[in-house]
Amino acid sequence: MNIIDIILKKKNKEILTEEEIKYVVENFDNGNIKDYQMSALLMAIVINDMTDEEVIYLTKYMIQSGSRIDLSNLNNVVDKHSTGGVGDKTTLIISPIVASLGCRVAKMSGRGLGYTGGTIDKLESIPGFNVNLSMDSFIKEISDIGMAITSQTEDIALADKKIYALRDVTGTVDSIPLIASSIMSKKLASGADTILLDVKFGEGAFMKTMEDAQKLAHLMVEIGRYFKKDTRAEITAMGEPLGNAIGNSLEVKEAVETLLGKGPKDLTELCLDSGATMLLQAKVVSTRDEGRKLLENNLYSGKAYKVFLEFVKAQHGDVSYIENLDKFPVALYQEKVKALRSGYIAKLDALTIGIASMKLGGGREKKDDIIDMAAGIVLNYKVGDHVNKGDVLCTLYTERPHYDIIAKEVLSAYDIVDEQVVPMPLIYETIE
Ligand code: URA
Repeated sequence: MNIIDIILKKKNKEILTEEEIKYVVENFDNGNIKDYQMSALLMAIVINDMTDEEVIYLTKYMIQSGSRIDLSNLNNVVDKHSTGGVGDKTTLIISPIVASLGCRVAKMSGRGLGYTGGTIDKLESIPGFNVNLSMDSFIKEISDIGMAITSQTEDIALADKKIYALRDVTGTVDSIPLIASSIMSKKLASGADTILLDVKFGEGAFMKTMEDAQKLAHLMVEIGRYFKKDTRAEITAMGEPLGNAIGNSLEVKEAVETLLGKGPKDLTELCLDSGATMLLQAKVVSTRDEGRKLLENNLYSGKAYKVFLEFVKAQHGDVSYIENLDKFPVALYQEKVKALRSGYIAKLDALTIGIASMKLGGGREKKDDIIDMAAGIVLNYKVGDHVNKGDVLCTLYTERPHYDIIAKEVLSAYDIVDEQVVPMPLIYETIE
């Protein structure tokens, strides 16, 4: 077998065999296939696509390239993955709610890059919080309190790591088969019994259209099924940010408020909906309605909040910050962005807001950038709300003095119109 024949085959729109895909993954991983050859093959895949079988084989050999987490001593282990969006702090809320109902949440998360935040960065805004658990501590914590969140271990799906790094610099990230196999290889190697995928679409998401989000979701569910894991996916909108807070400690504070039953409506609703699917997957309930009732009860009674406190304590975070949110440092500058006219908010572009939050210091433009945990944006109004001229649309938090340019960009994220606007639904479909 040789890589040039495989590249030519894909260039000519032919289907690769399992042996050929195995050969590519193994030989790229061990260095026999060079970056320039792999780049050519990746570009041919981006252009000519892959069949579901090809994607499954690619996933299979990427899983086999690294280690796998063995969680077989635990039962009811659930995992949830979001394809990422602006203001998405759902992991911090859903995990303790479902853990309070008997699910065990084993979550390996990543850091943020660009305009989407990472759960690990958000957790690190809690002083002392340890995001690097040993495997023993990870498993013990899940067993003791029902949940743990740690950084992705270095040795999971090693080939994916190498391939992703190459995709990142060769314009080949943007491919549904490559994204699906990349995400699923890591999820399947992480050892949970069930996987829920939140596939977002819209300006602020990886997938810009609902059709692409559906394609990606169906493909990932198909891959999960092949590996005999209960895998489901929800298609959710990311036209405007999720919730009101964007930025690391700002999002932790909003997550805690949500766990105290005082969260924004859209965020709370998405968490309850996803939570109901996870309870169904773990067979804790047999109907969605039953799941919703239990979730609402544990959210509004404070049971889920208690699990969150235990989780923070178990990972050495300073619980006093959670108990008194005013302890989180507040950014030096707080710039209020005001409405230039009265009317209804028709658009609040998540991408513009996400990029602005990054520029304020809340995200990384480059991998090595240091995040300012207190930086970000808090929205006062969402799509569909009425505002009067001069109302504060949102507040920017930053340590960087040149926020006036960013304030203008933030203002451009809003469309304010005369006619009343009905917001689009947040959750479009659950693929079960
Ligand atoms: N996230 C991943 O893990 N892989 C991709 O290819 C895209 C997003």
